[in-house]
Amino acid sequence: MAILFHESTKTFHLYNEQISYIFTVLKNDHLGQLYFGKRLRDRADFSHLLEFTPRPMAACTFEGDLSFSLEHIRQEYPIFGTGDIRYPAFSMERPNGSRIYDFTYQSHQITSGKPRLEGLPATYTESADEADTITITLYDQVTDVQLLLTYTIFRDVSAIARSVRFICGKESAKLLQALSLCLDLPDDNYELLELIGTWSRERQVKFRPLESGVTSIHSMRGCSSSVYNPFIALKRPETTEGHGEVYGFSFVYSGNFLAQAEVDTFHTTRVLMGIHPQNFSVALQPGECFQTPECIMVYSEDGLNGMSQQYHTLYRTRLARGYWRDRPRPILINNWEATYFNFNEEKILEIAEKAKALSIELFVLDDGWFGKRNNDTTSLGDWFSNLEKLPSGVEGLAKKITDMGLKFGLWFEPEMVNKDSEMYRTHPDWVLGDPERNHCHGRNQYILDFSRKEVVDNLYDQMCKVLDCGHISYIKWDMNRSMSEVYAIGCPPEKQGTVMHNYILGVYDLYERLRTRYPELLFESCSSGGARFDPGLLYYAPQAWTSDNTDAAERLKIQYGTSMVYPISSIGAHVSAVPNHQTGRISPIETRANTAYFGTFGYELNVNTLTEEDQQKIKAQVAFMKENRALFQFGTFYRLQSPFTHEAAAWMVVSEDQKTALVGYYKPHAPANEPYERIRLMGLDPNLCYRVSLNDTLCGGDELMQYGLITSEHAVKSPDLNTVLGGDYRSRLYRLTAVE
Ligand code: DGJ
Repeated sequence: MAILFHESTKTFHLYNEQISYIFTVLKNDHLGQLYFGKRLRDRADFSHLLEFTPRPMAACTFEGDLSFSLEHIRQEYPIFGTGDIRYPAFSMERPNGSRIYDFTYQSHQITSGKPRLEGLPATYTESADEADTITITLYDQVTDVQLLLTYTIFRDVSAIARSVRFICGKESAKLLQALSLCLDLPDDNYELLELIGTWSRERQVKFRPLESGVTSIHSMRGCSSSVYNPFIALKRPETTEGHGEVYGFSFVYSGNFLAQAEVDTFHTTRVLMGIHPQNFSVALQPGECFQTPECIMVYSEDGLNGMSQQYHTLYRTRLARGYWRDRPRPILINNWEATYFNFNEEKILEIAEKAKALSIELFVLDDGWFGKRNNDTTSLGDWFSNLEKLPSGVEGLAKKITDMGLKFGLWFEPEMVNKDSEMYRTHPDWVLGDPERNHCHGRNQYILDFSRKEVVDNLYDQMCKVLDCGHISYIKWDMNRSMSEVYAIGCPPEKQGTVMHNYILGVYDLYERLRTRYPELLFESCSSGGARFDPGLLYYAPQAWTSDNTDAAERLKIQYGTSMVYPISSIGAHVSAVPNHQTGRISPIETRANTAYFGTFGYELNVNTLTEEDQQKIKAQVAFMKENRALFQFGTFYRLQSPFTHEAAAWMVVSEDQKTALVGYYKPHAPANEPYERIRLMGLDPNLCYRVSLNDTLCGGDELMQYGLITSEHAVKSPDLNTVLGGDYRSRLYRLTAVE
């Protein structure tokens, strides 16, 4: 890995063993993009990759030169007002109303490692030799504004992190748009992959061909959202899970975002990603700065799995942090679907006792333990125990449960308030919204203004009072509505445009303070299921509740989509009761578990109401997961067959030494007189021989990857606890073990 600067041609080459990223200083001193893709041999001069030709109507920079128009040159960080009429990466306004700036190359600095982004989540290095970073300083002579473009290339992943910093010069300025990334690509032969959805249908995989004009996704609802995830990929039409070129773009941020690809009439593609400009502006005084969050670009020539594996490695090991990063996650039981709001101490202790008997490790008490919270109209904001339900308080209950030998976890929704709460009665002005206008509610709740420090301080104090009892080792941090009327009471008019961003910084600040005070506390983020499943929160909470939809058939799709970017160790996945509460579907408990194993495993049901047989199955599943969770959560994950396009879906994890693998196979609908079926595996050692459980066969790694694993039902010879044969919603978990 290296970052080279060729003085003679003013060309920068960032490369590691897999990728190259090349750009240059153009003759007008702006930065021109030359190449991003598979590693190229270094040369001092790549200027032939820049193509110039006179284009009618073009705005040309130099007199006498009809070829040099920024509209037709690939750029690093384009701005309006310099001849490029495509979408810009940023926009600023001077006190005189002019939005014309002209940023030219001034200097650059190359350092080892990766600097932190103060107050923002970001990928990091543990030693300086893991990455190199270059910061280019661009300068606007008229206003003295500096624009710092930072790129980090990692040694071991084919990823580049990018962010931008604006430093205000001698006059004030208003930043109206500050995206984190622009990438101009020389052609448009791509399909755009997006993860779309809604509550209970998060991160569904969708491809659409790029067309002329703009293809975009966004969130303007204050959270990254379940509608679109802050991620897009551009893949070649022929690219599959296992082969072909793909570029991934992922935004390490939890608020509003924009991700778009613009194709012009000359078939070039401009990718932009960053904070959505809607409801965004930053008033900067001389010397003040604004730092954008970072984007992670990945290039892979090994298909979508290749891209995902780069994200998994980076996000699992160099975005997630702390005590839980490398530890297999506790098997939990959550009481939400077992009781909803209707519980008391006795009922909770009964569930916990049975869970302990089944060897579950962590009991999580969900919504309803605080204030007068017996339904969703009341008490958000009042984070003290509901003594009618829990006479010894949540602290007493937590002690009783930890005394049983279980860990105890607790639900909070710190960012919200109900009007019926002591907090709202004391601080009605802490709610976001214009006091002269109606405030929409969502699930009867209002949004606390987390851009205000005193609000965050209050929540910190309230949460610490509960957590200081010392018996709580896990928090589920929920957030159950989108922002609508964004106006912060008491905030000066010129700062209103920063409220949505500062809100997210407030959320990060509270997370960080709690993480610092309780370093071993495990956080699971949540937002009406998976509406804030984003890289930003993975920096604070290494796992996230993926969806309220725990139906196995639906979960297969949700987890398949989620795995495009997010590591298995981050995917909260539980076995719940049947009929499923979201779909009414009845699927076998084995299939529910076979799906949930590919995540941070747990249960979301009342174990006491299950049959003795199901209880024994759970006990066996818990034992199985304990034996295999390190492999599930930290192995190399491959998607094999998509539930969006195939009758049967499959995925697998492979151990680092390639000697063990687990293959999950799922078939929601049972056909009659089934055809023969095989699934080609991935990631095995072709030279090893594997014993295949269920089929009782010895197969070469090469056979399993070339001919495939025979999944026809007749091939199953010795079913075990993770097998469902026949009927709808069948599934199987194959274990492959290398034999000497
Ligand atoms: C939404 C979450 O997604 C659920 O798991 C549960 O915690 C409820 N909120 C509680 O109100």
